[in-house]
Amino acid sequence: MLEPSLWLASAQRLCVLTGAGVSAESGIPTFRGPGGLWRQYKPEELATPQAFRRDPNLVWEWYDWRRQLIAKAEPNPAHRALVELEKRAPKFTLITQNVDGLHRRAGSRNIIHVHGDIWLVRCTVCGRQDQNEIVPLPEIPPHCSGCGGLLRPGVVWFGESLPAQEWEAATRAARQCDLFLVIGTSAAVMPAGGLAMDARSAGARVIEINAEETGLSRYVDVSLRGPAGELLPALLKEGIPNSDRLL
Ligand code: OAD
Repeated sequence: MLEPSLWLASAQRLCVLTGAGVSAESGIPTFRGPGGLWRQYKPEELATPQAFRRDPNLVWEWYDWRRQLIAKAEPNPAHRALVELEKRAPKFTLITQNVDGLHRRAGSRNIIHVHGDIWLVRCTVCGRQDQNEIVPLPEIPPHCSGCGGLLRPGVVWFGESLPAQEWEAATRAARQCDLFLVIGTSAAVMPAGGLAMDARSAGARVIEINAEETGLSRYVDVSLRGPAGELLPALLKEGIPNSDRLL
């Protein structure tokens, strides 16, 4: 059995961090790679509190478009492999930077959403938060059914803090795990991008799965190069299809 599979099979406290790459095979664009959203759009015009104050219509149009894209997408084999891992590992925490809800739809249970959830809307006036899965939105920008105030997407924007409870739970899980998997993330956005190194400093082994080399690759125990939807299921099946992917 190859080492990463062995580590996975014997992990007692498994912690996983996912990013946009885990949903790429479901047809959802990543942010920084080829075809990435931030290559086409400017984050400062769409994903900051200032952008929302300046032009809530534009921001909501963009989120409405992403919600429609995500609503059509289905979880892929990487999401499903993580559901299987959760069943096998004595303790399992899934930390995701993704707001698409595909881990939940696949059936993962112990999920920490550190960047929020695109299916939540929050009132900028009374603070009421609701689940809203209507696509497309009938009104842009949408308004609060309680007080009539302007709603905003329930996601974390650049310049905002991560939700405190979620972040505390994420850092605790990273520091307490014995194996940390970092999957489909450039790890370029802090603080979430730093969790793998936190885990490593606290003594965990770290396995990276990514289509490309990242800034983390050389610091982890093993970096597997390829699509998460192929590599993760293969790892679970105790073998890696092309061992030349094992760096
Ligand atoms: P990025 O777009 O920065 O990185 C996606 C990563 O996935 C890249 O390293 C790709 O090489 C990799 N990748 C692409 N397809 C893959 C596949 N099929 N299998 C495995 N890996 C694949 O996305 P994130 O790291 O998630 O934040 O970005 C972090 C944050 O930046 C996002 O949560 C979002 C964004 O701005 C906010 O909106 C606050």
